[in-house]
Amino acid sequence: MNNKTINSAAQQSGSQRKRPTQQQAPAALHSDHNDKRLAGSRFQAQAMAHANIALIKYWGKRNLHTPQLNLPAVGSLSITLDALTTTTSVCFSEHLQTDQVRVNERDLQARELQRISASLDLIRALAAAQHRTDISNCFAQVESHNNFPTAAGLASSASAFAALVKAATAAAGVQLDDAALSRLARMGSGSAARSIFGGFVLLPRGQRDDGEDAVARPLQSVAHWPLRVVIAITNSGYKSVSSTDGMHQTMQTSAYFRSWVEAQNADLQQAEAAIEQRDFAQLAEVSEYSCLKMHATALAARPGVMYWNPASIACMHAIRELRAQGHAVFFTNDAGPQIKAVCLPEAEAIVSASLAAIPGVQQLLCSGLGGAARVLDSQHP
Ligand code: DP6
Repeated sequence: MNNKTINSAAQQSGSQRKRPTQQQAPAALHSDHNDKRLAGSRFQAQAMAHANIALIKYWGKRNLHTPQLNLPAVGSLSITLDALTTTTSVCFSEHLQTDQVRVNERDLQARELQRISASLDLIRALAAAQHRTDISNCFAQVESHNNFPTAAGLASSASAFAALVKAATAAAGVQLDDAALSRLARMGSGSAARSIFGGFVLLPRGQRDDGEDAVARPLQSVAHWPLRVVIAITNSGYKSVSSTDGMHQTMQTSAYFRSWVEAQNADLQQAEAAIEQRDFAQLAEVSEYSCLKMHATALAARPGVMYWNPASIACMHAIRELRAQGHAVFFTNDAGPQIKAVCLPEAEAIVSASLAAIPGVQQLLCSGLGGAARVLDSQHP
């Protein structure tokens, strides 16, 4: 492998909002004044969640009249990534005037803040309903760190919302099982529902209007099939069109969207069987198919939603060439220009070397499969 490095950047998401009106001007988040008062808070916790990448993609929403439920139009299947993590601390305090959120030392802007506050509102309501703690009038200070480039098609919202709901429920003393946590995380970001779990994870589309059946569940453990993933970073900046916006544009204008939805179950079944049987060739075929089909559907929107750059395309060709030579590797790619090469351990060295040599590849991240989201520390009465 050449010396393009393997590692990470970071970033954040967060929110500030003064009750009862939303979107007040941000206040200073971490003044000494706040820190002293929060140091004694009885409601705080820290949690960590791993990013995930979908092999069978989630793209599109259903039941648009209940946008707060964020119901997926299709089921999806993912692998959780050990090396890509978000660590989030949440502290509820009566001394705060707004929810305050920092991600990798950056204060979040209005739309991002609102998303986080919406999740925190659900947890405040649950705490009240469970008569756990009276945090209904408490705002939260949230501090989050990603160890990888944020908002560049690397599933930062997945690990971010999984870590957030895990930390915030622990801080509030709210008791939820993993299915309920997955449902809460899905309302923040669809892919986050999957990051509650480790290994191979399925998020069904569900049928119910209330979304109770659109919760993720683990399919297979990491030990079942310890695949490796090499991620080629071709642009670590922010993506031009968020997944949420790209999905909406696709749903509203792409002539292919309906057939994308209709064919999804067959792809999910094929992938699930391939994973169960550890059939790499089958998994490679259906994963690349799902990825290219998702992008084809988005490209057919008006205007087309296009996430690739020349280096992304060169990586995909290189990965297919390696597979043609007999190496066990396939590509997948999300709402950004980074390419993820999924491979068997014995192919990792040649995959890394090949991708590192491609002009425009800035950095490689290498990962195994990771475990479930977990609470690192918590304190509540
Ligand atoms: C291309 O979960 O980011 O990565 O629910 O609107 O927050 P929202 O979307 P998000 O979409 C992820 C899309 C994808 C495919 C996938 O992860 O399944």
